[in-house]
Amino acid sequence: MNMNMEKNKDKKVVLSGIRSTGNLHLGNYFGAVSKFLKLQDEYDCRYFIADLHALTTNPDPKMLHESVKNILAEYLAAGLDPEKNMLYVQSDIPEISEMYLLLNMHVGIGELMRTASFKDKARKALGITSDSDEIEKEIIGNQTNQRVNAGLLTYPTLMAVDILIHHADYVPVGKDQEQHLELTRRFARRFNSFYGVDYFGEPVNFNFGGEALKVPGLDGSGKMGKSEGNCIYLIDDEKTLRKKVMRAVTDEGPKVPDSPVSQPVANLFLLMDLVSDKEVVDHFRKAYADCSIRYGDMKKQLAEDLLKVTLPIRERILDIRSNDELLAKVVKSGAERARAYAADTLREVREIMGIRKI
Ligand code: TRP
Repeated sequence: MNMNMEKNKDKKVVLSGIRSTGNLHLGNYFGAVSKFLKLQDEYDCRYFIADLHALTTNPDPKMLHESVKNILAEYLAAGLDPEKNMLYVQSDIPEISEMYLLLNMHVGIGELMRTASFKDKARKALGITSDSDEIEKEIIGNQTNQRVNAGLLTYPTLMAVDILIHHADYVPVGKDQEQHLELTRRFARRFNSFYGVDYFGEPVNFNFGGEALKVPGLDGSGKMGKSEGNCIYLIDDEKTLRKKVMRAVTDEGPKVPDSPVSQPVANLFLLMDLVSDKEVVDHFRKAYADCSIRYGDMKKQLAEDLLKVTLPIRERILDIRSNDELLAKVVKSGAERARAYAADTLREVREIMGIRKI
């Protein structure tokens, strides 16, 4: 029964997905993609574009399609080698949709409703600002609640299927996705115990060794993120990037030597740590400590050093993005390889569940 798991014995399977909404930003790049590059020889790496997950927020069809192509081009431009990494589009694997239906039979609507990401999205859709845990009642009582669609509720089932259909060992995801990963393990255990099999393993987050890297945004608050509107995108042109950096939030500047660094300024130093030479960072840290710092100069330097990273990638994105033939070839080959694994798992899951040929 464990045929599918046997296949990958030589290398552990690493799997991750990205929702196709918008473009890749520096947070995605430093937090995920650049790390993926280091895994490609040692692990069996599989990355996909989660366009079905993107549907849960009802995107415009044309935008959704564009977004899938953009992210694919950006993955390739950032250096993911489609020979070494399996790259595919989620919706190209129909086995995922079928297994999603099957796994849903073992998922409780209560546990889905208690998922943090669902509550957040439901609150947003309904315009509820309070943190109240009455959200379940609000949803059921709301007359126009097609705004909170069933796909949004079953998002974690779909994600669990993405992972389990590959029998993935490691799933590199950010903190915000850890609850989904926990649910995946719970569904796997539940499936095994209900059918009395030892079929699914329990996937874990990938620890890249050391602390999770934090890529801050430009608005002086927390992490860089699409929904926060504080992003630098790999596709940003020179002018746009410079403008964004020059407008980044700072403070009034240190008044006395060795002042503590405020959050917005600490964020700029963190970004500098990622892209600038050590001497450059040291220079500005010293200038901060002795109060001679001029944030304008620091930002100019930061923009310069950011551009050194992003502009070559931007060039490649534009190149690849205009090559439909290449994009089609990559996803076709990725889908073929992914489907080979997915079909085996689906066949075995159907067999275990009793969906058998007459
Ligand atoms: N939910 C993930 C996110 O928003 C994307 C995703 C979908 C994913 N399926 C996955 C990530 C499977 C890892 C594994 O970031």
